[in-house]
Amino acid sequence: MKFFIDTANLDQIREAQDLGVLDGVTTNPSLMAKEGISGKESILQHYKDICEIVDGDVSAEVIATDFDGMVKEGEELAALHDQIVVKIPMIKEGVKAIKYFSDKGIKTNCTLVFSAGQALLAAKAGATYVSPFIGRLDDISSDGLSLINEIRLIYDNYGFATEILAASIRHTMHVIDCAKLGADVMTGPLSSIEGLLKHPLTDIGLEKFLADYKKTNA
Ligand code: E4P
Repeated sequence: MKFFIDTANLDQIREAQDLGVLDGVTTNPSLMAKEGISGKESILQHYKDICEIVDGDVSAEVIATDFDGMVKEGEELAALHDQIVVKIPMIKEGVKAIKYFSDKGIKTNCTLVFSAGQALLAAKAGATYVSPFIGRLDDISSDGLSLINEIRLIYDNYGFATEILAASIRHTMHVIDCAKLGADVMTGPLSSIEGLLKHPLTDIGLEKFLADYKKTNA
């Protein structure tokens, strides 16, 4: 399973990269706004900065919602760095844009996916990644993990190469459950990755090992 961090915060991206298990970054316009990144030049520079920190795919989302606009914006984003993946919303024009980029060999991440049908369409269009938002489904009393399960089944039935990028991860158990279900990638906050480290028996065991060592090596 690949680990992506879902943030535009450079310090957090550095921290995740330092851990040595980071495979990429996802951003979206809300995450960029949260960091106060605005204006075309600053936004493009920020994507370049992220690519310099991390060794892997960096999703950069288009703002346009029409085909021509998405193609223009996506081409500009893709030209920034070879790690850029053009993130495109699951709308009719977006499906056309994904097909266009797929034919040109430019990587895409189909975002805002909330149903198996949408995921099937994204794969048919040749998306590199499909992003089902599991946390947002859970937020409205729907079952995000069931969606991962359904998409896995459909993609395996037909051998689609599109990778399932479990997005809108809220906590560590989401990561573990998505791994059990065979999601190819997870993207979430750093805390959801660091939570994997934690077990009280590890802490108790280490404390005892160090105490016993001290007894004989004082
Ligand atoms: C996916 O790529 C999105 O950036 C993200 O996972 C959305 O998560 P949220 O529901 O926590 O905003």
